[in-house]
Amino acid sequence: MDRHVFDTFRSIVYEHSGIYLNETKEAMITARIAKRMRVLGINDYQHYLQFLLHDQTGDEIVKFLDVIATNVTSFFREPEHFDVLGDLISQWIMNGRDRIRIWSAASSTGQEPYSIAMTAILAAGSRAQSIRILATDISTKALNIAKAGVYSSLLLEGVPNSVRSQFFIKKKSNNEVLYQIKDFVRKMVLFKRLNLSKPPFFLQTHIDIIFCRNVMIYFDNIVRTRLINELYRLLNPGGYLFVGHAESLACIKTDFTCLKPSIYQKPIIS
Ligand SMILES: C[S@@+](CC[C@H](N)C(=O)[O-])C[C@H]1O[C@@H](n2cnc3c(N)ncnc32)[C@H](O)[C@@H]1O
Repeated sequence: MDRHVFDTFRSIVYEHSGIYLNETKEAMITARIAKRMRVLGINDYQHYLQFLLHDQTGDEIVKFLDVIATNVTSFFREPEHFDVLGDLISQWIMNGRDRIRIWSAASSTGQEPYSIAMTAILAAGSRAQSIRILATDISTKALNIAKAGVYSSLLLEGVPNSVRSQFFIKKKSNNEVLYQIKDFVRKMVLFKRLNLSKPPFFLQTHIDIIFCRNVMIYFDNIVRTRLINELYRLLNPGGYLFVGHAESLACIKTDFTCLKPSIYQKPIIS
């Protein structure tokens, strides 16, 4: 791809998602854009760039970001986070708390918010009805998969049988085994499109626990700092922030207290 064309794609990605792509990503980006061009029947990068820039509907930028974003995820990814989450929820429920709000801020294809919901049910039993999960992502493609809540058996590798039978319905489609999230789990999660690089976010309520994992690695420090400040604002005092294990707030000036690597708390008095 022509250098100028590549740089223009890069700046569009940054402007609309905060994702910072350096030169080493050229081959990957070229392949992902080519995928979108095949759908549209366009075979020249410059032509696609013009199409993207002149699209008045706003639809193409959404589809473009769908192919650019990396959606890798899995059920109970970074399992220690779910141990801590389960302990927190049982403690809060035992202390009589009747309302817990959790936000999965880069929910991808749904494995993370559904793992949060399953953990909440295991920790709170029937009281889990008072727990709501907001799940957001920039990718509409990922959000549609998440809303459907149907996964191939390959994606459930490592999920214990007891969890499978409690929370999934096993189905067969064209000789393929699929697992559908049961309705009582699905009902706890509300999916919405949200761009983390463009705060402020207008959420209906303050949040008790935020999972913002494996997304800040794609941002530069300017976008990351803006995001962390906004997450801090949206958390209730005493609320928790979980980031990916490869991420840290070390280079960010923030009032969060670090409890363990990748787990932070907003002080009760701030
Ligand atoms: C690697 S996945 C991580 C998913 C999950 N949090 C986990 O840890 O398994 C990163 C997700 O961040 C989303 N993403 C990237 N940039 C975003 C942005 N600016 N706003 C919201 N979501 C974004 C991508 O679409 C993708 O689904």
